Amino acid sequence: MRNITLDNITEAVVGSMSTEIAPRNREVMASLLKHVHAFCKDVNLSHAEWLQACEFMRRAGDISDDARNEFILISDILGVEVLVDMLDHKVTHGESESTVLGPFYRENAPVLPNGASIIQKDFPGHEKVYVHGKVVDTDGAPLPHVTVDVWEDAPNGLYEQQDPNQPDYNLRGRFETTGQGEFAFVGLRPEPYPIPYDGAAGELLNYMGHHPWRPGHIHFMISVPGYQPLITQIYDADTKYLDNDSVFAVKESLIGKMHASDRDGVDLEMEFDFVLKPLAVAAE
Ligand code: BEZ
Ligand code: FE
Repeated sequence: MRNITLDNITEAVVGSMSTEIAPRNREVMASLLKHVHAFCKDVNLSHAEWLQACEFMRRAGDISDDARNEFILISDILGVEVLVDMLDHKVTHGESESTVLGPFYRENAPVLPNGASIIQKDFPGHEKVYVHGKVVDTDGAPLPHVTVDVWEDAPNGLYEQQDPNQPDYNLRGRFETTGQGEFAFVGLRPEPYPIPYDGAAGELLNYMGHHPWRPGHIHFMISVPGYQPLITQIYDADTKYLDNDSVFAVKESLIGKMHASDRDGVDLEMEFDFVLKPLAVAAE
């Protein structure tokens, strides 16, 4: 096509793709091109705005490295990570809902006995919470030997790898469920925190007139052979930002209530059970 017009540009680009490419490549690119072109027409995008967007992406690349992927943060602000997670993990058999992984997971957290504390550094005056529950399958049968990997931010709103004043792997731990599928650990009441907003993601939040804050939550990665791994977060029922999370990751089923506790050494306790879906059921 040599005479490119506003009316045929989309067809020209879609039509330029080789017939040899994988069908999925064609499906993804044809749809992406149609939507991007339609968006440009919809907002009558100016050349200056297009250049602004390209410069924005360059800055996102510049601030990204092995420890920070600005594009993940940008996709979070746009609700894309949570959307993709919901598409990829549709609840079909009553299993627990998943939500975003986020950028702060670290592999190889300390393996700890059930009931142990993940607090390596005290934050005086901050409430301690005993978190406990069961992991069961979609028929309600308890699952033993399940790895329950947990991580949370400190009361200053920082994960340990963001904060040189916290010990390595502070507020992280891996637990294994008992023969009755039970797990338990002691953590700190999680605090709301802002997602990193000193880079391109922060610029985008400004452009959208949104804030960077997330509600207080504890992350869980729950896995055992034969079951679909569960990546999720439990939200403190009394935290701020449950209704306006900057990354749209809250689900009603993931809100847990913390009650006063008379257990030794803690102020609060929260019970929360998880349901895993067998891989055989997931593959149906
Ligand atoms: C988090 O929950 O750790 C998180 C999720 C998305 C973006 C930033 C942080
Ligand atoms: Fe988090």
